[in-house]
Amino acid sequence: MSSISRFSFPTDILYGNGAVAEIPACIDELQVKKPLVITDPSLERTEAFKKLKTVLEEASVEHVVFSEVHANPLDTDVQAALEAYTRGSCDSIIGIGGGSPLDTAKALAVLAGNGGSLADYDAQKGGGVRITSSLPPIIGVPTTAGTGSEVGKCAVITSSTEHRKFMVCHPDMVPSRAILDPELTVSLPAHLTAATGMDALTHNIESLTAPVFHPLCDAIAVKGIEYAIGYLERAVQHPDDLEARGHMLLAATMGAIAFQKDLGASHSLSHSLSAVCGLQHGLANAICLPVVMKFNLDVAKNEYALIPPYFGIDTFDMSAEQAAAIAIAQIRQLNSRIGIPASLKEVGVKADQFDEITEKAFLDPCHSTNVKACSKSDLRELLETAWRGE
Ligand SMILES: [Fe+2]
Repeated sequence: MSSISRFSFPTDILYGNGAVAEIPACIDELQVKKPLVITDPSLERTEAFKKLKTVLEEASVEHVVFSEVHANPLDTDVQAALEAYTRGSCDSIIGIGGGSPLDTAKALAVLAGNGGSLADYDAQKGGGVRITSSLPPIIGVPTTAGTGSEVGKCAVITSSTEHRKFMVCHPDMVPSRAILDPELTVSLPAHLTAATGMDALTHNIESLTAPVFHPLCDAIAVKGIEYAIGYLERAVQHPDDLEARGHMLLAATMGAIAFQKDLGASHSLSHSLSAVCGLQHGLANAICLPVVMKFNLDVAKNEYALIPPYFGIDTFDMSAEQAAAIAIAQIRQLNSRIGIPASLKEVGVKADQFDEITEKAFLDPCHSTNVKACSKSDLRELLETAWRGE
């Protein structure tokens, strides 16, 4: 090995039922006093949000709530959050919800610490180097088990003027604390539990095979695969099963820790399918993942061969190719059991959208770290195969 590697796992994670009650202690530890609580309008009405409010009020933590985050957060949402943060003289940020409020919280921290407009920090235009001042502390409180944004260093934001998604990334955007409280996820509907859970599984599988040297993340990804396969179906079928909910939260967090390595072609397709067809990100990944795995099979067979035992299948007498093929078949069956349609056609994607989806998928950087080189025509073929559900 000729180069020096850096392995970094900077987030303090508090895991367990009732962990939300630890937030006032976290605020003390971080030596701040008045957080802006960021969420979205639908979450504001949930038991999860009420629990957080109660915890803050009972501990007399002064705070301001900003709940105007869109499902795909806009740069204007972040600007409005900044106004609430400044007007309220806040000194820290709590993001509670799915990926959108958490990403908004992280993007707000950049503006609060560095000023300017969010477009100045667009990662594709080298904006990360302009994040030079320290950011206010962020506490991430996920209420879904999928994106793992609570341990990630990036925020995905939609430009309101250019109508495209862009990323803002910096190591200091990683939340100071992640609160993994399974009780906050029990009200997530079955179809979202399924889709977000498959996103977590996709993160673990794509990061395990991404061609980047990071054996620590590889080990985390394998455990994340075990948890997602072992507990997703239970979480979908029994929403109050706190053991299943807890393991899915861990699978999501482990997936996001692992994908600091990077992701693969399923995510390029999924990002494009969301942008062009409005498809839910995890749902798109769930349908594309087995198709991409089949494409990768010859070069990723040893990693995929690790998967069948987590479905209870003994692979002792099998070749790696055989075991890998079984892994793909089992993931298709898992999709079916948790109510994920087998094809993009079934979820409303139209054949006349193929050109645009392919173009946008090719522009997305994730496929550049797919375990197998993936050209534009490969992406088109993967898209058409996923559309047919083959
Ligand atoms: Fe994802």
